[in-house]
Amino acid sequence: MIIIQNGVLVTPNGKKQTSLAMENGKIVKIGEIVPGPDDEVVDASGCYVYPGFIDGHTHLDLEVAGTVTADDFESGTAAAAAGGTTCVVDFATQYKGDTVLNALQTWQKKAEGKSHTNVAFHMAICDWNEQTKKDLPALREAGVTSFKVYMAYDTAVSDAEILEILDAIRPFGGILGCHCENGGLVTELQQKELAEGHTEPSAHPLSRPAEVEAEAVNRFCYLGKLADMPINVVHLSTKLGLEEIREARAHGQTVYIETCPQYLLLDDSNYSKEGFEGAKYVCSPPLRKKADIEALKLAVLTGEVDTIATDHCSFNYETQKKAGIGNFTKIPNGAPGIEHRPVMMMHIFGDDLDPNAYCRLMSSNPAKLYGMYPQKGALLEGSDADVTVWDPNVKWVIRASEMTQNVDYTPFEGMEVSGRARFVYVNGVLAAHDGVPTAEHPGTYVKR
Ligand code: URP
Ligand code: ZN
Ligand code: ZN
Repeated sequence: MIIIQNGVLVTPNGKKQTSLAMENGKIVKIGEIVPGPDDEVVDASGCYVYPGFIDGHTHLDLEVAGTVTADDFESGTAAAAAGGTTCVVDFATQYKGDTVLNALQTWQKKAEGKSHTNVAFHMAICDWNEQTKKDLPALREAGVTSFKVYMAYDTAVSDAEILEILDAIRPFGGILGCHCENGGLVTELQQKELAEGHTEPSAHPLSRPAEVEAEAVNRFCYLGKLADMPINVVHLSTKLGLEEIREARAHGQTVYIETCPQYLLLDDSNYSKEGFEGAKYVCSPPLRKKADIEALKLAVLTGEVDTIATDHCSFNYETQKKAGIGNFTKIPNGAPGIEHRPVMMMHIFGDDLDPNAYCRLMSSNPAKLYGMYPQKGALLEGSDADVTVWDPNVKWVIRASEMTQNVDYTPFEGMEVSGRARFVYVNGVLAAHDGVPTAEHPGTYVKR
């Protein structure tokens, strides 16, 4: 057995100073444990022991705009583990003309043999037709309980299709997430910016103003209401969108909110950085105003936000982002974050959130929403041995040159932060130590 001693466990019943034992990939005992001669004892003095953090929104090995994300499942999950994450829920994406079952197989193959963390898949439905509908029960059987639709990009589906998808996933309790941006408006506003000679990254947020998100959030809420289904608004970035969700919730709807550290810290002034540097922050939805950041932070503090994910979608600045020099619409959309989510959350909120809240936002809530609880997201006897031993006292500086993510920059460069994952166990195997991944690939596919 591996026995973690002297730490403060963050359990579903609150914090407890006690020990935890793992064997054969499971947590086998929580409480006072006397180690035997064959047991490995891990000292967690001064640390919190969390159920492994779950990142419910990543894009690894994804083709976008004629290029492929800088991180695949090897580097992406190694970086996740280095930062304290033990499970990622990535997006298997059904391209036009493909079936959802084939899309799942494609993504399972991408991850096979490469996973330092556990991996589950949402299905991004991009081609809604009779075959897709027919395949949903088999997809559910294969362990997929959560879905995403886009209202923007060439992967977008129509409002009517979203309504049909909500209906189709109801029988098995599926949850639908939505990329809420009005794609038609985005195209219109991009053309307007270009026509006015605005070709720089600073035009990116102007082409996707808060109204573009809020209108789409409002529409998604009404679609959820029409279908009488819970819905999940992913990567929420605006106060205006938040207000739409508050309104829907006030009328009794279940609307889950996901946001990401970048929307809680970085504002749109980053798009005006010298030269082409602003391209590093081109993600969609874009970074927003300080007032949006404050509104979202308050929503995290009050418990209105359900989950914190990264939307990790990394592209190298030098070789990929620069494709958009002279035309900001050609900058591949996305930013890296998979390695830094836990520490950035603690950097942003410090003691304003307690370990139970960090656990809820980054582990237990995503596990519950995505059908993995209490197998994951909880320190309980019988749960999977996905465990993050977090030392809140280590001080360090985030540097792209020292990170595991396979990308040439981080939006959090130079930030002085406190806290680091001292030991990260995935299925009871050490996947990272002091911010460095081990050579192990203990991650498995999570059939939900
Ligand atoms: O810019 C982003 N976020 N790219 C990834 C795809 C998405 O919209 O989630
Ligand atoms: Zn999205
Ligand atoms: Zn995304």
